[in-house]
Amino acid sequence: MKNSINIIVVAIMMISIVSCKKDTKPNYQYMPNMYAPVGYETYGQYGVFPGGQEAMLPAEGSIPRGWMPYDYENSTEGYQLAKDSLKNAIRYTKENEEAGKALYDIYCAICHGAKGDGKGTLVQREKILGVPSYDDIGRAITEGSIYHVMYYGINSMGSYAAQTSEHERWQIVQYVQKLKADLEGKTARIDSDVVAVKVEETPHQATEENHDNAH
Ligand code: HEC
Repeated sequence: MKNSINIIVVAIMMISIVSCKKDTKPNYQYMPNMYAPVGYETYGQYGVFPGGQEAMLPAEGSIPRGWMPYDYENSTEGYQLAKDSLKNAIRYTKENEEAGKALYDIYCAICHGAKGDGKGTLVQREKILGVPSYDDIGRAITEGSIYHVMYYGINSMGSYAAQTSEHERWQIVQYVQKLKADLEGKTARIDSDVVAVKVEETPHQATEENHDNAH
């Protein structure tokens, strides 16, 4: 008998505790600083920021890391200027040529053909017209002009500025230059003195260190 009274008392206590919870009001928070951050929430809205947004726009004129502005205009003059004066920003190494080939096969070969003769799959299936061969004398493409058309596109050829990085575009340029040389029966340019410089530097540094240790 005493036992069941106890059970009833406990049950009433529990029901009264639970019934105090109101869904319309937030629960009591013990040490709220442990739950809510003191700093501003990312993307939160606060009056102190311009535009009321914690996430602000980059300062005017700022550029993303690893990205460089391209100074040549998307116009006939810009094209001509790039064709005459813009030079490849990377060295013509075997590695860059191989990387350029891989990218070329992905982005360009479908129209320009694996050999750069303008006879890609889309041309053979007559899906696109007017794809030139890279040794087209009338066009006389240069590394600057190749980079320029990849950056902005030209007529029915789209821009590749969004798919490729600056470095990758220069690697493709090197490979297009190689295809052009192959088509013309010339030898493709390779800058090979990079390795020679490295070999020379290492033993020189080593002897200097030995020299220092001796003192
Ligand atoms: C959708 C098909 C297509 C793809 C893909 C394509 N091109 Fe072209 N490309 C063309 C056409 C068409 C032209 C001729 C445009 C014109 O002058 O009317 C052209 C022209 C060119 C020229 C000569 C431009 C000049 O100065 O006269 C170069 C160089 C070139 N493309 C390089 C590339 C490279 C590099 C890629 C890959 C990143 C590529 N193309 C991808 C269709 C394509």
